[in-house]
Amino acid sequence: TRVDVGIVGGGPAGLMTALLLKRRGISAAVIETRTKDTIHRTQRAGILETATVNMLVDAEVGSRVLTDGHEHEGTVLSFDGEQHRIDFQALVGRSVWLYPQNEVFYDLANAWECEGGEIHWAVTDTQVHGVETAAPRISFTDAAGQTRSIAADLIVGTDGSRSMCRKLIPESVRTDHFISYPFAWFGILCEAPPTAPELIYANSELGFALISQRNESVQRMYFQCDPDTDPESWSEDAIFDHIQAVLGTEGGVQLKRGPIIEKTVLPFRSYVCDPLSHGRLVLAGDAGHTVPPTGAKGLNLALADVRALVPRVEEFITELRASESDRAGSDRSGPEGETPDGEAPSVETPEPLRRYSRTALDRVWKAQNFSYWATNLLHRQPEENSFTHRRRRGEFDAITGSVHGQAYFADSYTGWSD
Ligand code: DHB
Repeated sequence: TRVDVGIVGGGPAGLMTALLLKRRGISAAVIETRTKDTIHRTQRAGILETATVNMLVDAEVGSRVLTDGHEHEGTVLSFDGEQHRIDFQALVGRSVWLYPQNEVFYDLANAWECEGGEIHWAVTDTQVHGVETAAPRISFTDAAGQTRSIAADLIVGTDGSRSMCRKLIPESVRTDHFISYPFAWFGILCEAPPTAPELIYANSELGFALISQRNESVQRMYFQCDPDTDPESWSEDAIFDHIQAVLGTEGGVQLKRGPIIEKTVLPFRSYVCDPLSHGRLVLAGDAGHTVPPTGAKGLNLALADVRALVPRVEEFITELRASESDRAGSDRSGPEGETPDGEAPSVETPEPLRRYSRTALDRVWKAQNFSYWATNLLHRQPEENSFTHRRRRGEFDAITGSVHGQAYFADSYTGWSD
């Protein structure tokens, strides 16, 4: 195959990029190592910023987000059993939407397939060649065992937090900004009615808990645990008793319990790759950065990358086509022809793609800060004493006790305008 843009990774970032490029007359092909069904069945986060919802609606990928999703005009912060509502609409005039990321994926994948977009699921042996040349290429083995190749002008790496594309940016030009955390999240899905109308982010001396939702009969909840926790070591009763204790047993919210149908431990880390572009390669989404889940920023940030990226890709492809037709009209042996030994000469990173990296990273760092801050506000550190917990209570009161503090939370959580 020969396309304008080859995309490695068929998650939400890769599929949205493919769809929006197609809307601008730019062709793309996508490869993905997992099956469509595996991704659709994998639980991920569930909160969409307004801008993310708007993108789905504008991209015409179906209206399930509007019919099956739920608008949340606020959220509840709970500290030692005391609850405070943050009213997003009153504070910043925006809402968030509860609509699971695996359904966002499913809508995007169906839209891309229905429009006849090229996508290869369950590929193996993926290799990306020549990102420092004008002729990059992806090679892989498809699900039927056939060796294939996609030649493109640009490769987009949307291959998730364990990205192989990222490693193609040489260490001499790449800075990996990374921190780890001394805890993880224990996530459950249970068959029960919602505990409360809105999400509850809670902290107590036992650490963090989050009461989220999926629909009328299935709920999603998380609580802080050690990173090496075996999910099977916690019984159903122990899980609910613990979450109830974080929410407070007297005067606190009364947890609705039900059979647990899934248990997983989620790792916690913060990572940023700088830059996000190199030669004819750009990274978007988790391939370029990972946030801890506390601020619900992962998917939203990935799609914000795509918003920043697509116009810059269009600019790059337009300039490239113009210079190619100039060359075709005059001298055929242009600067991007092959050298005598058959090796394609190396290229500079195109300016529009450098600009993408700078724009996207500005938002990434704001989201990194919010995710880090919210994580530290709501979690228990391993070495705590009466000072550290009481200090955190002071920070919590500074947020919930004034419209300025509340507005900081609401503005960040619902997502800054571009
Ligand atoms: C969910 C996950 C999050 O990380 C979060 O901050 C809010 C909601 C969820 O899975 O529903």
